[in-house]
This record gives sequence, structure tokens and C-alpha cells, in this order.
Amino acid sequence: MNLPAANANETDELLAARGITKTFPGVRALDDVQITVLAGRLNALLGENGAGKSTMMNILAGVLPPDAGEIFLAGQPVRFVNPRAAQQAGISIIFQELNLVPHLSIAENIFLGREPRNAVGLLDYARMHRDTRALMAELELDADPRTAVARLRVGAQQVVEIAKAISFNSRVIIMDEPTSAITEHEIKVLFRLIKRLKERGTGIIYITHKLDELAEIADDIAVFRDGRFIASKPFADTTRDEMVRLMVGRELTDLFPKTTTPAGGEMLRVEKISLRHPERAGDFVVRDVSLAVRRGEVLGLFGLMGAGRTELLQTIFGLHPHTATGEIWIEGKPICIRSPRAAIDAGLALAPEDRKGEGLVLVHSVAENTTLACLEKISHFGLLQPARELELVGRYVKRLGIRTPTLHQAVRHLSGGNQQKVVLAKWLATEPKVLLLDEPTRGIDINAKKEIYALVDELARSGLAVIMVSSELPEILAIADRILVLAEGRVTAEFARGAATEEAILRAALPNSRN
Ligand SMILES: Nc1ncnc2c1ncn2[C@@H]1O[C@H](COP(=O)(O)OP(=O)(O)OP(=O)(O)O)[C@@H](O)[C@H]1O
Ligand SMILES: [Mg+2]
Repeated sequence: MNLPAANANETDELLAARGITKTFPGVRALDDVQITVLAGRLNALLGENGAGKSTMMNILAGVLPPDAGEIFLAGQPVRFVNPRAAQQAGISIIFQELNLVPHLSIAENIFLGREPRNAVGLLDYARMHRDTRALMAELELDADPRTAVARLRVGAQQVVEIAKAISFNSRVIIMDEPTSAITEHEIKVLFRLIKRLKERGTGIIYITHKLDELAEIADDIAVFRDGRFIASKPFADTTRDEMVRLMVGRELTDLFPKTTTPAGGEMLRVEKISLRHPERAGDFVVRDVSLAVRRGEVLGLFGLMGAGRTELLQTIFGLHPHTATGEIWIEGKPICIRSPRAAIDAGLALAPEDRKGEGLVLVHSVAENTTLACLEKISHFGLLQPARELELVGRYVKRLGIRTPTLHQAVRHLSGGNQQKVVLAKWLATEPKVLLLDEPTRGIDINAKKEIYALVDELARSGLAVIMVSSELPEILAIADRILVLAEGRVTAEFARGAATEEAILRAALPNSRN
């Protein structure tokens, strides 16, 4: 075959893939798609959950073989038999799902399989730690290279993934939702790094659901939909509305369909909740937090990462019985919650942010995961009623637009965003009185976000009380009736709907903002 395009642009077309097709049992993940990466430019790959973005990246990085199609590196056809081959050819990837070995140290993870050796062939730990320290400095991560990765919070693990990817000095770096778990500050550092990489001529493919990030970093965009290639163009020639239309296939109006919900009687009240720090004696992760939510009310909980938001929800849900103090009332009755079981029985549900940890059993099916917390609803005298189960699961799959070939598909075969939707389905299916949502739209595409906002609104209207943790300000401003801000484990501000501005909320969220 004659390859005019690939050869003509040999100098700046670093990586090009065409005609890529990939089928999994029951799913055509990619159907004749293409993508190009130019030297010194960042190509943002956009598409709804399940559109095929991660699958395409796994093919480019040698993790999966394509069923059909060609890949060219600097104009030359290539075929990677494994990730190492892709790495050696100059392509590295930051995986959407973290891919580190938990009990190995930061340095060991970064140099896994290519550890430097000294003159007598022994592992050269000094050099490994020195090089790791330099990478950490570039990424402004303050951690000892000898720390086991399992001891880092998720965001810091993500930064280690990034460090690992750049340590190969690759010509092409693939970043699959790198900012979904890191702090504002870490995002700034990453964006500065991206600028430096581009100046060095590195080509980057960048996947994100946060369109607001693009203005700062994107040079080109590419859009996939339902496993098909839809469009690619320079970022400067498109608009937010057009990107959404290309992704979703139609106009999306009214992202935040908030109807005013008259709040009813008090549903949940917590008084003076505190949670001791797991390691630092005398220190607290949550400190003297009191709050109340009414029937029909959506309470937004904003805070920077590390503010104690997740831990506050966990404490209310009975996950820290030995380190927490405080009192809880539901519908005016004092209640003792010392386990998630007790919390569920009292009418609480907590949809956690970490879908891999407490969220899901990845090897189990969509149906099994969805009904895990509400088995009594689909059982009769202790016997599971399959027809009832499928009816219930089918309803939530449809409502949340969960993209799966069947209800029996193992959850680990779903795309990242679709896994997140199963977490929500599982907790909604318990039909709680109080719904605690921890970052419910992380990694979720824009159309599904809209569905989730509509659902939260509808649930509130039907009489639920909702507490929603979010680090996306526009989201929290749009759907919360009231907003509490946490910083360093304490409530630092409260705003009524309409009285809050992004600036005021952010100011209250900064550490030492107590007033
Ligand atoms: N190993 C697998 N087995 C079966 N199906 C799979 C497998 N990996 C991916 N799929 C399916 O292929 C489709 C594309 O998934 P992919 O992970 O590429 O989506 P994505 O665009 O990255 O979505 P997200 O934004 O949610 O991360 C989905 O329908 C997914 O369920
Ligand atoms: Mg993905």
C-alpha cells in the first residue's frame, strides 16, 4: 500500500492509526476508527462512556491487539506484541485504572522491569531513588521514593503513574483521564508539565470528560461515538457546544434541570461528628461537624481533596465505629450506627467515590452488583426471584444509560464510567431515605451527568434527603439547595442556594480559612 499521508508528514506525524477495529464478546468496541498524534501537540480524545477511548489507547500501547487496522510510528508500520514493545518504540501510557503494584515502593514501581544495576550487577537503589526524587520534584510530589504505593492516597498514586510514564522519555504519551483523582494543585503541575513536554516535541493523546480543561492544553480534538470515529479538528476551530454535539449525537440543552424542591421535615441530623486520624495521634480528619438535611433537600458538600468530605460521609455511614464520635438522628430519632449494615437498615445509602475499593465486586455481573445491597427486595422467603431481579436491574440500567451487552456481563468488562454508574445503581436500588453521594459524576460523560442530575432532582422531589460531595463547583452550585464547605475537617461556611458564588466557596475551602 502506498502511504502518502504518513510519509509526507514524517517529521511531525508521530503516531497514526487507521481502520482500527476491535470486538469483545457481544460488544464491537471499535469499528474502523482512526487517530493521529502530531509532534508537540496535544490531541484530546472525547466521547461518551463506552465510546471506545480506553480500548483504542490500550491498542496503541500494546496492551490489546487490534482485530484489524494499521498503526504507523513516524511513518513506519508497527505492531506491538506487548506494552514493553510499545514503550521501547517510544509510546507510554498513563492508564485510566491505576496500574501500580501496591506493596512496592514509588521508586520500584517507576523502574519496574528496568531497574538500574551497579558495576557488579546488583540493584542500584541509590540511583533509583535519586532519579525518582528528580521526577517527584518535577511533579512537585512530596513523598519519599521508598514509600509503598499502597500508603499513598489515590491522587498521589495517579501522580506516580504520571511520573512513571514520563520517565521513559517517550515520543508519545497517552493520558487516560489523568485528572480524575488529583487535586487542583496537582492538575496545575500536570498542565505545566504538559506544556514542557510539548515544547520538547512530545505528542500527547489526552482523554478527559472535563471539557473545561481543554482550553489550557488542547491543540486538536478527536471524537469517538459508539466505537466509531466521528471527527477530528484543531481545538481552535471548535466550540464547547459543537464538541458536545459530536460526542452525544444531538444538542444537549439544560445540563442542570433543577426544579425547586420545597424542603420538608428534618430527615437526618448529625451533631459534633469527629473522626480521629488513623495514624497521627491527637489529630482529627473530621472535627465537630454538625449538619441537618431535610426531606426533599439536596445538600452540597464542597471541599478540596483532603478536606475530610469522604471521611465525613463514611463516618455517618458507620464505616469508622472505633475512631469516630458524635450523634446521629434520623427523622428525629437518635440512632446508633456502628456498621454499614446498621446504616442501610436505618435508611442510609452511601455511593462511594472509589469504585474499585468498596464500590463493586469487579468479577461479578452488573445484575449481582446492582442488587448486592438490596437482596431482600428481590427475594421471597429468602429465595432470590430472578425475574424480579432482572426487572429491577433493567430499570436502573436503562435509567442511567449503563452500556453493557447483557445484565450478566462482569463489571470489570465495562468502561470506567459505566462501572461508576453501576455503583450508583446499586445504592439507588436500596431506595434509601437519605442518599450520600461521594463524587457521583467522576469519570462520567456529559450526557450521563445530565441524567444523574435529573435523577438526584427527581429523588429529592419524591422525598429523599441527599448529601452530595463534589469538587466540581458548577455542578454543586447548580443542583444543591444549600452548600456546606469543609476545610481541614471542619465546616467553614454555609451558603443558601443563590447566595453562593464560586469565589466565596473556594475562599472558604482553602486551609486556614476558618473565620
Ligand atoms: N475486556 C473487555 N471485555 C468486554 N468488553 C469490553 C472490554 N473492554 C472494554 N469493553 C467494552 O468496550 C466498550 C468500550 O469501552 P472503553 O473502555 O474503551 O470505553 P471508554 O470510551 O474508555 O469509556 P469511559 O469514558 O467510560 O472510560 C464498552 O462497551 C466496554 O464495555
Ligand atoms: Mg475509558
